[in-house]
Amino acid sequence: MTSLLVTGIGELTTCRTEPGVTSVDTRPDAAFVVERGRVAWVGPSGQAPAADQAHDVGGRAVVPGFVDSHSHLVFAGDRGQEFAARMAGERYAAGGIRTTVAATRAATDEQLTATVARHVTEMRRQGTTSVEIKSGYGLTVLDEARGLAVARQFTEDTTFLGAHVVPPEYADDPAGYVALVTGPMLDAAAPHARWIDVFCETGAFDADQARAILLAGRERDLGGRLHANQLGPGPGVRLACELGLVAVDHCTYLADDDVSALRDSGTIASLLPGVEFSTRSPYPDARALVDSGVRVALASDCNPGSCYTSSMPLCVALAVREMRMTPAEALWSATAGGALALGRDDVGRLTVGSRADYVVLDAPSYLHLAYRPGVPLVAEVSGATV
Ligand code: NIG
Ligand code: FE
Repeated sequence: MTSLLVTGIGELTTCRTEPGVTSVDTRPDAAFVVERGRVAWVGPSGQAPAADQAHDVGGRAVVPGFVDSHSHLVFAGDRGQEFAARMAGERYAAGGIRTTVAATRAATDEQLTATVARHVTEMRRQGTTSVEIKSGYGLTVLDEARGLAVARQFTEDTTFLGAHVVPPEYADDPAGYVALVTGPMLDAAAPHARWIDVFCETGAFDADQARAILLAGRERDLGGRLHANQLGPGPGVRLACELGLVAVDHCTYLADDDVSALRDSGTIASLLPGVEFSTRSPYPDARALVDSGVRVALASDCNPGSCYTSSMPLCVALAVREMRMTPAEALWSATAGGALALGRDDVGRLTVGSRADYVVLDAPSYLHLAYRPGVPLVAEVSGATV
């Protein structure tokens, strides 16, 4: 067994996930030891135990790898024109998803695999070491199953999103589509998925449809997650809390009783500020959520429509600048918060027993993630130069 001492860390951010914790822990002049891919010891550089190999990071800051708990990487095609139209004043609407569905159905397995690989590599270069990937641009039994099989090559956290939008061939029969999603499509998807998700929004699926789909997934041992309250107020967040889902995502338009339901249920609110940036929408009130005792995750929502960024550092910077999170809260939400949103306790932190997924920043402190927006600060990811 080979052990590795990572030393010379000017500022080490560790993170904890115990109840009530919503912010990071940092220590100066630190080191940690990695054995079998796990953190075996953390402490002051001067007290580090001997190890087989040593890696001195030269006084730079080290943070846990980002946990991106929401992405839609199985797609084909490009919607740059739709983005340009939005920037010229068009509103974002759920229907744009159908453009990507047509392109994705026409793509080969090899093309889809290459696209996911390219984006996962792009994410890793920006410090993401764990990612959730959804299906949702196939919307036939075969296309959803193959999308999930492609995603499974890259992560255990695959999510069946057959209920992304009603596809054109079911436009006159949405109930028939829900029956397909909860029946044959779920049968084909479940072996490749850990989670099930629904886009609960005007123009997509209502709360009754979402409930039926999530409960059908639960019967098949899939954990539930939900896209909710993205485009306007609605029942999705309260439904997620009532069903005890681990996370509900977007949470852009929240009423007071949505916030209290989140606090009381412990459901994580996953905020996706790249979406508000890319659709020129108001940002969710992260400050009010954190101050109310709700635990918040930050994720990219990388997809070709509402938000085509794969950058967790950008999400951290937006959360601080636009949603009034502190830099410490934003980093916690992008690491430990993302892990909680995926029901994971092995990632999102750098403490004894966690996976040794770490990021070396070309900076003296994690504060620079928000202080220097848009600057490629990620120098190394778990020992590999990026
Ligand atoms: O999370 N909201 C639904 N799904 C994606 C958007 C997908 C698309 O526009 O293609 C989202 O924003
Ligand atoms: Fe999404």
